[in-house]
Amino acid sequence: PVLVVDFGAQYAQLIARRVREASVYSEIVPHTITAAEVAEKNPIGIVLSGGPSSVYEPGAPRLDEGILELGVPTLGICYGFQVMATQLGGEVAHTGAREYGATDVVVAGNGGVLLEGQPQNQTTWMSHGDSVSKAPEGFSVLASSVSTPVAAFANDERKLYGVQWHPEVKHSEFGQRVLENFLHKAAGIAADWNAGNVIAEQVARIRAQIGTGKVICGLSGGVDSAVAAALVHEAVGDQLTCVFVDHGLLRQDERRQVEEDYVKATGVRLITIDAEKQFLDALAGVSDPEQKRKIIGREFIRTFEAAQKQLIEEAANEGDPVRFLVQGTLYPDVVESGGGSGTANIKSHHNVGGLPDDLDFELVEPLRALFKDEVREIGRQLGLPEVIVGRQPFPGPGLGIRIVGEVTKDRLELLRQADAIARAELTLAGLDNEIWQCPVVLLADVRSVGVQGDGRTYGHPIVLRPVSSEDAMTADWTRLPYDVLAKISNRITNEVKDVNRVVLDVTSKPPGTIEWE
Ligand code: XMP
Repeated sequence: PVLVVDFGAQYAQLIARRVREASVYSEIVPHTITAAEVAEKNPIGIVLSGGPSSVYEPGAPRLDEGILELGVPTLGICYGFQVMATQLGGEVAHTGAREYGATDVVVAGNGGVLLEGQPQNQTTWMSHGDSVSKAPEGFSVLASSVSTPVAAFANDERKLYGVQWHPEVKHSEFGQRVLENFLHKAAGIAADWNAGNVIAEQVARIRAQIGTGKVICGLSGGVDSAVAAALVHEAVGDQLTCVFVDHGLLRQDERRQVEEDYVKATGVRLITIDAEKQFLDALAGVSDPEQKRKIIGREFIRTFEAAQKQLIEEAANEGDPVRFLVQGTLYPDVVESGGGSGTANIKSHHNVGGLPDDLDFELVEPLRALFKDEVREIGRQLGLPEVIVGRQPFPGPGLGIRIVGEVTKDRLELLRQADAIARAELTLAGLDNEIWQCPVVLLADVRSVGVQGDGRTYGHPIVLRPVSSEDAMTADWTRLPYDVLAKISNRITNEVKDVNRVVLDVTSKPPGTIEWE
């Protein structure tokens, strides 16, 4: 792999994704990794990420010196670039000249292998206080900006390179080209990592892990569990049984899409459990968001365990116990949980995978090394229906946390209709790729006066919450065209009984979370 050394902040994941966009497999490692550990991973390239620190701070993260001596082609970015400069004998100065945001740089000469074929003047994205004032010995300067004399450097002999700006950020005009030049030209790495290879490799691994055993997978209707199950099915066929819990909090048509479209496309053996009544009974009279989340999580585990028990008994009768459980864990979850940061509990999250640890299963996690867009690509290659593969994120607790107030069957039906209208119109307007997701929320505890026909109405508002995001950690509200908003509002107020007002949520995250509860 290409190793992306994480110096903190959010840059490492983005770099890892961009490297993969260049068709090269990448993995993130902490900056505390030793040279021996690096050598063990046998990397074909290393990228040092940016980070929030200053190389001057006491205790500022460093790199095991030996890593730069391994002879592995290495690219330092921003903080990583400064770490390289300091550790190799160059100079980093506290010039006081900070550069944040779009910054023009001038390429020196032909730009060397890193900036080869790029315009002499280009806009890059910078974010730094300190600057490299002198390149280490044996390095040539490839670019500079007004306040940074050394904005990029190279030592072709040692295959060490660095840039002050962030090539992984789209605002750097030729950023992806810088990464590609490093990977393909400087390091000579072939562009041969793609979805097809991943499928073949995972299928082989899954077969080796599962052998002739039996395996279960909970489907949520979302992308991750659907693709994970499809991969496992590809590997072991009917040794896999999928369980789909219909908790009554799904959106319109979702159950049919799983039961018919998905099953037809994959041929998986599916058991659906109709648990609507059980969930609604448990939720009766509850409007507190955290309590709702806890109840839904608890009921989900109960239902899934019951189904599991039955399957296990059946299998045991055939003398072949179920030993494996498929989970759609993605790479960002792996990286983030490895970080072990003590973040505050904002909401109790519930996922289909969120099952108790005391279940005696071995996990099968075929998506552990993948980012979401890669999972979608694999799903498409496996022939899964676009309604599932292209699906926007939808929370495990479903519509239960999109009704502000008590969850009832009637309210769910209202919300389902409003949500279906909003989704259909967004798709029709070709906006699915502009938005990350668009929760539609029913304010069931709020009423307002309206007029319809000749009569006074006293109905509920529906909130539209369209957001743009890269990772759901932060988000901005999407500026949807007015005519699309007007169409959605018209249709919802005309077609959905008891809804007489549609409002738009124009809050970024932070301070607002994406979901209302
Ligand atoms: P928030 O509301 O915290 O949501 O800004 C961030 C992202 O997570 C989704 N979400 C969930 N996903 N189980 C999930 O699988 C949950 O309990 C859950 N709650 C929120 C939300 O839709 C958004 O994409």
